[in-house]
Amino acid sequence: MTDPKKTITKAVIPAAGLGTRFLPATKATPKEMLPVVDRPAIQYVVEEAVKAGLNDVLMITGRNKRALEDHFDRVPTLEIQLAEQGKDSLLKTVLDSNDLGELHYVRQGDPKGLGHAVLRAKVHVGDEPFAVLLGDDLIDEKEDLLSEMVRVQQKTGGSVVALMEVPREQISAYGAAAIEQVEGEDFFKVSELVEKPSAEDAPSNYAVIGRYVLSPKVFEVLENTAPGRGNEIQLTDALQTLAADESEGVYGVVFKGRRFDTGDKLSYLKANVILASEREDLGANLLGWLKDFVKNK
Ligand code: UTP
Repeated sequence: MTDPKKTITKAVIPAAGLGTRFLPATKATPKEMLPVVDRPAIQYVVEEAVKAGLNDVLMITGRNKRALEDHFDRVPTLEIQLAEQGKDSLLKTVLDSNDLGELHYVRQGDPKGLGHAVLRAKVHVGDEPFAVLLGDDLIDEKEDLLSEMVRVQQKTGGSVVALMEVPREQISAYGAAAIEQVEGEDFFKVSELVEKPSAEDAPSNYAVIGRYVLSPKVFEVLENTAPGRGNEIQLTDALQTLAADESEGVYGVVFKGRRFDTGDKLSYLKANVILASEREDLGANLLGWLKDFVKNK
């Protein structure tokens, strides 16, 4: 169990997966760089970490990492040109994307699974609890999920996962959790975790989504976790070990807000339509056009 006095300042963003569900777009571009309206998906994720007070962000990258690093770097020639042309609001969006926390990068090498990606953060994170945000998972900006998870970690000293109730037939796409009520609390104790179970074998309809706040003990467990499903080192398997360890424990915060998996084509398209429809500069025109489009389909 982590010393609860150790505050959480670090976020780890795994972004080294191959993104095969989005081929051929992801042949030469990381899926985390695909734009949602006008920002790459990864920018929303970094902004979420910084908003929750986690300014020290480590990104786990792989092939094509250049685009990810370049996006958060300065582009002096572009900035000078926008300033000279008086394009102040565009200049602001460019400067805002350079100015997000303190970013670090490490390569995963072979993408041997999410657990393997998280283990690459060991040296940077050290002996402190830390957050993990999957680079292709978007949580509505209006939600405070991560801050809530940090609060639960500080209270319990264990590890915390975000859970979302999904229809039974969809549970096989996720890790599934068996949960028990914690008396007097609005979070749950996780007693069992299974990676991508069949609908019949799933312990519940609660799916683990892409936000975690983890005890540093997870590194030791990952070092001793053999490849599991898909021959990958699974974070879910390491969490199952922590859940069974009385001195550690895994807790679940149930999320009821909006979430998009931008690595999935349908969810990605929905994210673009929904978020654009809520934008002051685009919403009215997009919705007007959509209504006509659907009526005539
Ligand atoms: P996914 O399973 O969604 O990513 O992993 P993927 O393997 O890229 O996707 P598909 O199924 O082939 O389309 C969830 C997150 O974990 C990262 C991914 O980048 C994504 O953000 N990941 C996954 C790694 O960083 N390394 C890995 O070895 C696997």
